[in-house]
Amino acid sequence: MSTRLDAKTTYDYDREYVIHSWSVQSKRNPLVVNRAEGVYFWGTSFPSGKERRYLDMASQLVNSNIGHQHPKVVAAIKEQADKLCFAAPSFANEKRSELAKLLSEVTPEGLKCSFFTNAGADANENAIKIARMFTKKTKIITRYRSYHGATYGAIALTGDPRRPPVEPTMPGVVRVLDPYCYRCPFGQEEGSCRLECAKQIEEVIQYENPDTVAAVMFESVTGSNGVFIPPKAYYEEVRRICDKYGILLIADEVMAGFGRAGTWFAIENFGVSPDIMTVAKGINSGYVPLGAVIMSEKVAEGFKDDFLYCGLTYSGHPLACAAAVATIKAYRDERIIENSAKMGTVLSSYLADMKRKHLSVGDARSIGLFGVLELVKDRGTREPIVPWNASGPVMAAVNDYLLEKGVFLYSRWNYMFVVPPIVIDESQMAEAFEAIDGALAIADASLGK
Ligand SMILES: Cc1ncc(COP(=O)(O)O)c(C=O)c1O
Repeated sequence: MSTRLDAKTTYDYDREYVIHSWSVQSKRNPLVVNRAEGVYFWGTSFPSGKERRYLDMASQLVNSNIGHQHPKVVAAIKEQADKLCFAAPSFANEKRSELAKLLSEVTPEGLKCSFFTNAGADANENAIKIARMFTKKTKIITRYRSYHGATYGAIALTGDPRRPPVEPTMPGVVRVLDPYCYRCPFGQEEGSCRLECAKQIEEVIQYENPDTVAAVMFESVTGSNGVFIPPKAYYEEVRRICDKYGILLIADEVMAGFGRAGTWFAIENFGVSPDIMTVAKGINSGYVPLGAVIMSEKVAEGFKDDFLYCGLTYSGHPLACAAAVATIKAYRDERIIENSAKMGTVLSSYLADMKRKHLSVGDARSIGLFGVLELVKDRGTREPIVPWNASGPVMAAVNDYLLEKGVFLYSRWNYMFVVPPIVIDESQMAEAFEAIDGALAIADASLGK
């Protein structure tokens, strides 16, 4: 066995030699995490040097859908490592073939062939290359409140504030407004909504000239910008518009896929199938990096005789594919997607309780185990408790309280995301909400009402 670094040395090396994503380096104080199991992980914080258990209500980065250290997935990786760690992407490989076949079985009707990538961002980049080559058109329509990854093409697709600081990016992206019902950009409420957000897409396509638009790419359910669950008719309208103008519909299911939304894929909740779907995260719960662009037979046919200008050294890495095969089989055999739907009902009732009890909760939304609490200063004006794209002492106090109680939650701006591993049970959900209830009392007190 190799010698292991202790927690303090790990922390010190991290501070000195590691550059962390999305952060001001001097302001970071990372937990040291070397152990996890199921819905829990163990972290050592500094300067105290104390280790404790955390309930992972964030699934790390909303990717550990199956929970930590699932024995069948770990065994599959070990078995594959003993057999073959790597084969060039031009060869056929057992686990890649098996995975591609499994994906054609579990994904929405019509999707059949997969091109494998390393993660979500490059899945999206390859999806737009494929859409451009297939349609021989160039423009891609995305939404403003969206995130599609941090590499240059993917950040160009992204609408949220992570894009402007790195502009100029790839040209050819046109954005539309979001189906954000709580803050409808068209000023509508449930009763008055005429699907203006979907209709705007057609208007924009006409202004841009439909002959120039290759694809519409949306997160089926928006993730890190606030869990937006559009009305079912929204996607029916989007599908109709795409078909009318010969435009491909690309569903980014990197965060929403693999049981997060209570179904295998979030788009199933809306009764439509995309032409291309991108996945990563939950495909193998991050045990080994992997993403995929899954396309319809019609799109795949386009490359039967035409050259596919896409390639990655690690396209279909055997270790990653072995982990994904084991993960998908476990989702199926252990009825884990069904658990997400069942526990989704429990989550939505806790969220509703929080809204009833806490004045600071302006809105509480969820679909399956994809939930968010949106905190406001005032329920009437819906003013966010901290401004858009900002943090503040209230949210810091809320997050500190949760960590003190041993609950790890993903929070951003005025959003508290509730996105646990989809294997969570009722007692673990109760444990989480006891802490969330206490944290919201802090938010309520800040309102001074
Ligand atoms: C919807 C969505 N698309 C794409 C990505 C990018 O995935 P990755 O970080 O694996 O590149 C993310 C990451 O959070 C995401 O949430």
